[in-house]
Amino acid sequence: MSNTNYNKKVLEHFKNPQNMGEMKNPDAEATVRNSQCGDVMKIMLKIKKAPSFRKKGSLESENLDRRNVEVSQMGEDKIEDIKFQTMGCIAVIATSSTLTEMAKGKNLNDAKKICNTDIVEALGELPPIKVHCSNLAADALKKAIEDYEGKSE
Ligand code: FES
Repeated sequence: MSNTNYNKKVLEHFKNPQNMGEMKNPDAEATVRNSQCGDVMKIMLKIKKAPSFRKKGSLESENLDRRNVEVSQMGEDKIEDIKFQTMGCIAVIATSSTLTEMAKGKNLNDAKKICNTDIVEALGELPPIKVHCSNLAADALKKAIEDYEGKSE
């Protein structure tokens, strides 16, 4: 397919993909494959665990009053770093690059909500026959997050 079918932003991501490469010791990863074209996409994640802190205090008196106070505050785990590797077309490289920019720094619940249409919107447009390529990136991210959630249960 000719490059002229892609807009400038898509071609910029293709020529200079963000967050592409290997990640050592990822906290989670997932690989997905498009059964029709055979393209493969792998996402790797480093997760920053939400701060969880406890305060334990005790009140004691000689009159037997003893109480423990425990306060626990939980935040949300966030995507600290994200990398992708792919064997795929121009569109899958551009959508993967865009997805990683969108997901970095997000908490896991928000990152899971990124769908293929969000990615296409961020890029401006994709040729209609290439819109399906954006599914690969979105699916890989969801699976990688599920992988992390499965490990931390
Ligand atoms: Fe296979 Fe783009 S042609 S993902």
